[in-house]
Amino acid sequence: MSSENLDRGLVLDAVRVTEIAAIAASKLVGRGDEKAADQAAVDAMRTALNDLEIDGEIVIGEGERDEAPMLYIGEKVGKGRGPKIDIALDPLEGTTLTAKAMANALAVMAWAPKGTLLNAPDTYMDKIGCGPGYPPGIIDLDASPADNVRAMAKAKGVDPTEITVCVLDRPRHADIMASLRSVGARIHLITDGDVAGVMNTADPETGIDLYVGQGGAPEGVLACAALKCVGGQFQGRLVFRNADEKARAARVGITDFDKKYDLHEMVRADAIFAATGVTSGALLDGVRVADGFVHTHTLVMNSATRTVREVRMKRPV
Ligand code: FBP
Repeated sequence: MSSENLDRGLVLDAVRVTEIAAIAASKLVGRGDEKAADQAAVDAMRTALNDLEIDGEIVIGEGERDEAPMLYIGEKVGKGRGPKIDIALDPLEGTTLTAKAMANALAVMAWAPKGTLLNAPDTYMDKIGCGPGYPPGIIDLDASPADNVRAMAKAKGVDPTEITVCVLDRPRHADIMASLRSVGARIHLITDGDVAGVMNTADPETGIDLYVGQGGAPEGVLACAALKCVGGQFQGRLVFRNADEKARAARVGITDFDKKYDLHEMVRADAIFAATGVTSGALLDGVRVADGFVHTHTLVMNSATRTVREVRMKRPV
């Protein structure tokens, strides 16, 4: 383990932070109010972070300082003592999923030593990701989705029709879907929540082999951290729709607007990743209240040790 790695003791701290955010958001599940759910998660996560003996800086958060009063990019969190940490977070990944009580809403966070997480602006990102067990370089953002499926099928020793690809259900993905259909791959469509979508590729029980498509860049860095912890593969490229988005990227230090980032360029040191289910999904159970107790289910991973833990917490409401 390099001296740059985060202390293992931080693993449980990370769990507490996403648990608290998930519990706060869970009170708004099914209430049709995305903003209130997000705000509840943000408030809770910020309070939990500020209680920790860390010298943290938000590098992926709720937005730029003038648009996000809390957990904005550049905000310092923690008590200011202890390890210097880059923090990527999404207190509520899947605001609409939460508002509509649909599957796969998460409270998510990744920690890495200071200066080692890509400071991604709040733009879109083209993404491709797969789980562990494949030869390095098996997927390539610049190859067609059909060619990526063929490569994965060959490595797995199956026909391309046996490969399942997760894609966000958006009109912008029509070409990707046509390419996938051309080789007969199965397409698993999701309405939202591509962090969970990418993470699903690392769990054989989901049946999902590959994630392809365009979603939020911040979510891309979070998903990338998750795949790094399990030895998966990921590539991303920022997508800019206008000059304002390029200016946002420039403000966080991006100079090459066309760069294709590999997993280890997005998360440049070992990272800790934690996600707590807000609503139940393939990977995590959602928050549940029963018999006077609140129950949570969290996945926490440390890429330095390749440790994956599932933590179930129960405490009086
Ligand atoms: P929110 O939690 O901010 O609502 O994001 C949900 C999400 O589905 C992400 O998982 C995904 O990266 C992004 O939105 C996709 O953006 P869009 O809805 O604009 O296609």
